[in-house]
Amino acid sequence: MTPQIILITGATAGIGRHAALTLARRGHTVIATGRREDALASLQTEAAGLNLTTLRLDVTDAESVSQAVATVDAQTAGHGLDVLINNAGYGQLGAVLDVDDARVRAQYETNVFGVLNTVRAFAPAMVRRGSGRILNVSSIGGLFTLPLFGVYNSTKYAVESLSDALRRELRPCGVDVVIIEPGTINTNFSGTAKASVDRADSAWSDVYATAENNYAWAERMAPDPTPISHVMTKAIESRSPRARYTTPWRDKFAVQFMNLLPTRLADALASAFFGLAKVDPARLSPALTTEVA
Ligand SMILES: NC(=O)c1ccc[n+]([C@@H]2O[C@H](COP(=O)([O-])OP(=O)(O)OC[C@H]3O[C@@H](n4cnc5c(N)ncnc54)[C@H](OP(=O)(O)O)[C@@H]3O)[C@@H](O)[C@H]2O)c1
Repeated sequence: MTPQIILITGATAGIGRHAALTLARRGHTVIATGRREDALASLQTEAAGLNLTTLRLDVTDAESVSQAVATVDAQTAGHGLDVLINNAGYGQLGAVLDVDDARVRAQYETNVFGVLNTVRAFAPAMVRRGSGRILNVSSIGGLFTLPLFGVYNSTKYAVESLSDALRRELRPCGVDVVIIEPGTINTNFSGTAKASVDRADSAWSDVYATAENNYAWAERMAPDPTPISHVMTKAIESRSPRARYTTPWRDKFAVQFMNLLPTRLADALASAFFGLAKVDPARLSPALTTEVA
C-alpha cells in the first residue's frame, strides 16, 4: 500500500475526525481540516506521533479554500493531494414549509457548494498529474427521502448526481470519484439537526416530537463512525474501488427495500414511522399563511 496525501474536510468531529485518525494510523499523510481551532488543536494532540497536520478550512468561504490550496501546495512541494475527502456537512431538520429560504440556502452552501468549492480548488492538480481520488460523503438520504429531512436529503441527492457526473468526466483524466453513503451513525449530526429548526409555531410540532423519539431510538442502535472509516480506507487503498459504498449494511438493506416498494406504500410506512397523522393544519405558522402575490 502506497501512503497517500489525504485532505479531509469537517475533521473537527464525528465521521471526519474518526476517519482522519484511522487513515493516519494506517500510515497515510493526513491534512485534517475544519472550522474550530480548539477542536483542531485537540485532534492534533490526539494524533501525536502520527503523520497528521491540521488546517483551518471553512468550505463555504472562498478565501479560506484558496488559503488551504496554497498551504497544501507548499506542504507537498507542488504535488497537491492524492485524495480529497469531502465530508463537511450538516442536517437541516424541518418540514419543507417550516424551513425559511436563509436556512435552505445555508444548507446548500455547505453541503453542495462546499463540495464544489473544494473540488474546483484541488482537482486541477490531480488532473494535471493524471492521478487522484475524490471521496464525496453523501448519505442514504441521497437515495431515499424522509419526511422532515427534505431540504437535507435534496442536498445529498445533488451530491449524488454531481459525483456521478464528476466520476464520468474525470475518469479519462486518471481521477476517480467515489461516493460514501452513511446510514445512521452516532455523531453530533442529530444534535445539530435538532437545533436547526424553530418548531414552536408549526403544524408539524407534534410530528417533530415523535420523529425525534424514533430517531433517538435509531441512533441508540447506531454504530460509531468505524464502518465509515472502514469503507473510506477501502475506497482509498483498493486498486479498483467501487463507485459507491453504502454502510452499515442494515441501512443499505432498508433503503433498497423502500425503493422497491410502490411509492404510496413507502409513503405510508414513512408516515407511520414519523407519526405524520399528528399534523395540525390549524397550527400553520402565520408567516406561512400569507400567500405569495
Ligand atoms: N451521522 C449520520 O448519521 C450521517 C448519516 C449520513 C450522512 N452523514 C454525513 O456525514 C458527514 C459528517 O457528519 P457527522 O455525522 O460526522 O456530523 P458531525 O459530527 O456534526 O460533524 C460534521 C462536521 O462537518 C463540519 N462542518 C459543518 N459545516 C462546515 C463548514 N462550512 N466548513 C467546514 N466544516 C464544516 C463540522 O464542523 P464544526 O465542528 O465546525 O461544526 C463537523 O466537523 C456529513 O456530510 C453528513 O451529512 C452523516
